[in-house]
Amino acid sequence: GLVNTRDMFARAMKGGYAVPAYNFNNLEQLQAIITACAETASPVIIQVSKGARNYANETMLRYMAMGAVKMAREMGADIPIALHLDHGDSFELCKACVDSGFSSVMIDGSHLPYEENVALTRKVVEYAHQYDVTVEGELGVLAGIEDEVEAEHSTYTRPEEVEDFVSKTGCDSLAISIGTSHGAYKFKLKEGEEVPPLRFDILEEIEKRIPGFPIVLHGASSVVQEYVQLINRYGGSMEGAVGVPEEQLRRAARSAVCKINIDSDGRLAVTAKVREYLANNPAEFDPRKYLGEARKELIRLIKHKNEAVLGSAGKA
Ligand code: G3H
Ligand code: 13P
Ligand code: ZN
Repeated sequence: GLVNTRDMFARAMKGGYAVPAYNFNNLEQLQAIITACAETASPVIIQVSKGARNYANETMLRYMAMGAVKMAREMGADIPIALHLDHGDSFELCKACVDSGFSSVMIDGSHLPYEENVALTRKVVEYAHQYDVTVEGELGVLAGIEDEVEAEHSTYTRPEEVEDFVSKTGCDSLAISIGTSHGAYKFKLKEGEEVPPLRFDILEEIEKRIPGFPIVLHGASSVVQEYVQLINRYGGSMEGAVGVPEEQLRRAARSAVCKINIDSDGRLAVTAKVREYLANNPAEFDPRKYLGEARKELIRLIKHKNEAVLGSAGKA
């Protein structure tokens, strides 16, 4: 069945790789995640956001996740699979997910004043641990896509808080803010400017304060430019979309970062392939045709991430 993240992270920490956490909202995404992770023998965290629950119905998603475990086993893959709530924003939501069979939850209290974040995270941990469900907390706020680069400084994780936070809350992993952000427009670059490096100095400071503690990196899509170009060529408009370079993710994966969250790259792959297929096949109207193309590309993308970026391939 589903497993929590404890053993996955312990092994990732020792092995110098990161476990991929892919978001899913529909059948084709989940099939692609499971197929790619089974074929690369990678542990995987499949995660559901509040938005995904609203879009697809949380009962449906939960049964799909249980079906995904069966599908992997039928493929002969004994890979560990965790079902995780992404960005839980209340105790009630986290409790609902624990009660319904999720094996891991995130309580994102990063926008709250420090002591309130501690209290809320601790409350979720106390509940979740009774059922052996692991809990991800967060310190520091990821930059919004509208934020100025200068404004980000105040929202980086403060290393001096992490030790107090993990010991007071008892959380199992900690999401941090070191320069990534959610979505497809992570950095606002001026003409000729390069993507600024992540703040590895802050990460190292954090590692010193909580050695061996699993760190989580959100907003870690690379915003694959081939997809952005396909989208733009076939009727889309995504000028200026940019993400985290793969080399920086490789470096993060070798560190205490044990979980890397990827959603936007999968969205781009699907949109690029659907646009391309429909533009080239205007008379086609069977969703299996264009969603099939999208699913094939998703499998390729996820295998590449596991094998060449996160290093999780072969670690199941
Ligand atoms: O962190 C956000 C994830 O990419 C999920 O996005 O809330 O639109 O489902 P969503
Ligand atoms: P991306 O938008 O970079 O894919 O980040 C996803 C994420 O952090 C989900 O929690
Ligand atoms: Zn996130």
